[in-house]
Amino acid sequence: MFSEDAPKKDVKTVRIASEVWHDGRFIKWDDARIHVMSHVIHYGSSVFEGVRCYSTKRGPAIYRLREHMKRLLNSAKIYRMDHGRTIDELCAAAIGLVKRSGLDQCYLRPIIFRSLDEERPAFGVNPFPNPLSCYIGAWDWGKYLGDEAIEQGVDVCVSTWNRLTPNSMPAMAKAGANYMNSQLIKMEALTNGYAEGIALDDRGFVSEGSGENIFLVHDGKVITPPLSSSILPGITRDSVIQICRQLDIPLVEEGVQRAALYIADELFFTGTAAEVTPIRSVDRVQIGAGKRGSITARIQQTFFEITKGERPAPGDWLTYVNETQPSPVADNNGHPANADRATRAATAEATDPMSSYSAVVTD
Ligand SMILES: Cc1ncc(COP(=O)(O)O)c(C=O)c1O
Repeated sequence: MFSEDAPKKDVKTVRIASEVWHDGRFIKWDDARIHVMSHVIHYGSSVFEGVRCYSTKRGPAIYRLREHMKRLLNSAKIYRMDHGRTIDELCAAAIGLVKRSGLDQCYLRPIIFRSLDEERPAFGVNPFPNPLSCYIGAWDWGKYLGDEAIEQGVDVCVSTWNRLTPNSMPAMAKAGANYMNSQLIKMEALTNGYAEGIALDDRGFVSEGSGENIFLVHDGKVITPPLSSSILPGITRDSVIQICRQLDIPLVEEGVQRAALYIADELFFTGTAAEVTPIRSVDRVQIGAGKRGSITARIQQTFFEITKGERPAPGDWLTYVNETQPSPVADNNGHPANADRATRAATAEATDPMSSYSAVVTD
């Protein structure tokens, strides 16, 4: 049940896009480098996204692109990163990158960070003198928690590390520095033979995994912690909330005690990387029948059908890359880029990632 080689395990990165988008132009992968004295390296000053592009019958389709870019802009706003990139420009850049990469499916990593002005270097904590850079990279990424995890489920623990407190590091922003906390949670879990760790918030309520949101199933009802439990407002979490509505599965966002994890009928993680991954044990306590439960399976199947374009989504969730016109970002001249009309249409219906959360400030 518990893998011996867990600490070394990671998914294989098979293919990497040969170009990276950088502030309006495409550059070679090898040229996407920064100075070692960049602010971000010393003080963790970055915000980023993880976006999946799925292989479909209509070619590569980017999943909830606009919502991811909206969250990136929200994260940047929280950290006063006034970079001047628009949501349309970022969406067009992502579409252009996938097109040029030739990858049928991939993971996209947009990132904005504080770098170094080599003419006028600044080394202090004050981030304002440091210029901002924006990049998007892409690679083909497999199943984050392992191939079998999607069917068999994973064995996890409750971490001894707490999730960030809302007034120290806002979990609502997807900031690079938050992932130091995630690394503590992940390393502890792997070292002790678990695939992942679940962090509690500073009050002792269940928060989330190191890189995933969490859902419980109890007596036919799906439960997930609210934003006030120091979680990232996950876009897969939002997808599952909307899928539950579509499937008429009752769902509530409410504070979850640690003990509720052990007696849940089913548990699962959600995330762009982890997708919908069942949890079969917590702290070596078997959850339900110790395998993927029936409600998890229904939600998971619906999610995968939507991502493959085989089932209508509750919203305009897929951006079909081959069905959007080439945009100015793809010309490699570095001119300010605007999304063309098709790109805008492909992503215009998407909503703010926060909009479907009812419990921003309450339990
Ligand atoms: C800490 C954390 N929570 C939750 C998630 C899930 O968010 P999403 O579904 O938007 O990928 C992630 C992954 O991005 C994460 O890193």
